[in-house]
Amino acid sequence: MSLRTAWHDTLFTTRALAAVSIEKLATGLVFNPSSAEMRADPYPFYRRLRETDPMHRSWAGGGWVLSRYDDVKAVLADKSYSADERNWSLAKRFRKRADAHGIPDFYEGGFITMLRSDPPDHTRVRRLVSKAFTPRAIESLRGRAEQILDELLAGRGRHGRLELVSDLAAPFPIVLIAEMLGVPTEDRERFRHWSDQAVRTLGDGTFEDAREGLAAMIELGDYIEAIAEQRRAEPRDDLLSGLVAAEEAGDRLTMTELRATCVLLLVAGNETTTSLIGNAVLALLRHPEQAALLREEPKRIAGAVDELLRYDSPVQLTSRIATQDAELHGSRVRAGQQMVLLLGSANRDPAAFDRPDELDVTRDAGQHLSFSFGLHRCLGAQLAKLEGELALDALLSRYPDLRLADSPERAIEWGTNTILRGPKRLELAH
Ligand code: HEM
Repeated sequence: MSLRTAWHDTLFTTRALAAVSIEKLATGLVFNPSSAEMRADPYPFYRRLRETDPMHRSWAGGGWVLSRYDDVKAVLADKSYSADERNWSLAKRFRKRADAHGIPDFYEGGFITMLRSDPPDHTRVRRLVSKAFTPRAIESLRGRAEQILDELLAGRGRHGRLELVSDLAAPFPIVLIAEMLGVPTEDRERFRHWSDQAVRTLGDGTFEDAREGLAAMIELGDYIEAIAEQRRAEPRDDLLSGLVAAEEAGDRLTMTELRATCVLLLVAGNETTTSLIGNAVLALLRHPEQAALLREEPKRIAGAVDELLRYDSPVQLTSRIATQDAELHGSRVRAGQQMVLLLGSANRDPAAFDRPDELDVTRDAGQHLSFSFGLHRCLGAQLAKLEGELALDALLSRYPDLRLADSPERAIEWGTNTILRGPKRLELAH
């Protein structure tokens, strides 16, 4: 979010450095999701937070940081916490800073999506889009998704090398969602570019990240609008035509909402699913006995995806804004304060999962919070799980000797986003 960029910009001021020192003095811990250690492995730090300071006052987090499963879930379930960033007490101040850096306003610029809105707008838009995401609709994509994987892996011998991210994990979800929406898949390189740029607006990026990310979202929105106009003239059997019909019906969906929704669908499901595949493959390479079990009993792969999502979540955190005063762990939360909810930490809470730091693909991990919880629970969860299942099945069944192509330092390059976690390059040999 652009406001978070403005917030992080202030980290370089003396006042901010003083605040970080106070955070360290008061709690013995500093939450810094952009540090190299956190990127490589955030779990030891999460554990310390859960054990010693489950309601952590953080400068970098811009509010309270919650790390225990029950607390994270309770805030997500509580409608007195808003997903709309404009309720943040610091929003106006940081909006001014963002203005000074020429960052357009997300909300005024027409990028208000269901992800960052509250009922009744949220309910209306989500209801329209959910029709395309019923379990039946998603299951009907299975055959086509398998075909796409075949195409992506075609022409590879039994032995060779694979850069998992660009050869498979990135293009696979892009092609599928583009087909669902009904936008030309030949443009997939452009989608990947727009999507890579757009995620720069998430997390603790720079003003340049925010500016370029927003510019990409505007370009993508224009592109969508042009195709929407074609569908208005000649409707087809695709999601975009369905949304255009809803837009024509007047008060149900505005063109601005239609643009924002399509951009959200093209962006929210790409990097996240890419990370699911990357994190899952990495976890299985590090636990060969678990990979062997899945090769022996491929029927287990679908269930294993939940455990792999729990074990290393592609979305590490989300946030909500308190709209009324409350009390939690003996601390007073004031209306307008931000709650940073560590989904990745909740998934490793021993109060919710036995032996949480162990990967066990046979466990029932269905209650993990990797897709969030409550009103905003991921709309694409079923699709993402299907994609994860099919990608893992394709890799495990084709390549019995899948392994890192080099030492971990050379073969794995982690992405730098502080919200999304996953390798941006993963060199494999098979
Ligand atoms: C493994 C892959 C994925 C993960 C880990 C993931 C995770 C999430 C999370 C954590 C949220 C809620 C954030 C919050 O509560 O603030 C969310 C919302 C959402 N996701 Fe996903 N997602 C994934 C894939 C997808 C896919 C494939 C799509 C669609 C193509 C999608 C579409 C959405 C939408 C539309 C929302 C907003 C729902 C709402 O606000 O009501 N996601 N996702």
